[in-house]
Amino acid sequence: MMERFLADEDATVALARALAPLLQTGDCLALSGDLGMGKSTFARALIRARMEEPELEVPSPTFTLVQFYDGAPPLYHFDLYRLADPDELIELGFDEALEDGISLIEWPERGGDMLPDDVLTLSLEEEGDGRRVRLRGGQERLAALAVAFI
Ligand SMILES: Nc1ncnc2c1ncn2[C@@H]1O[C@H](COP(=O)(O)OP(=O)(O)O)[C@@H](O)[C@H]1O
Ligand SMILES: [Mg+2]
Repeated sequence: MMERFLADEDATVALARALAPLLQTGDCLALSGDLGMGKSTFARALIRARMEEPELEVPSPTFTLVQFYDGAPPLYHFDLYRLADPDELIELGFDEALEDGISLIEWPERGGDMLPDDVLTLSLEEEGDGRRVRLRGGQERLAALAVAFI
């Protein structure tokens, strides 16, 4: 597990930008934390960095459940808050996303057993005026991502 304190929104954005180039095809990054902790802020900054478009519109996938970005590799931004049943992920193309792209998942808890075993989980928790961020996952991927946490 790696952790850091993020003093403000800029620090959340900076971490997302630092992690962005380190992600690879097949990575599944679950963003967990209560409402208002910065999951969407983090996802937006990471998507903009990967797409190399600082002003890119990043709509919330609250209703569509998934937004696709045609990057190399492709990016899939999921928000599972409104998922009625984890099996719905099959119709959303979750398997393909995991295989050929990078997946970011808000409200991953709603995905139940459908999340892969090698998921990376980034959690955001309130701490004073800022956030405590923790990254958990397989040792090998964590080691590769460690540089973003310095
Ligand atoms: N490290 C941080 N410290 C304090 N506030 C933050 C930090 N990161 C993000 N925020 C703020 O918290 C709010 C997060 O909103 P949002 O990203 O929509 O959260 P979520 O998607 O988790 O509900 C925004 O107002 C943002 O400015
Ligand atoms: Mg959100």
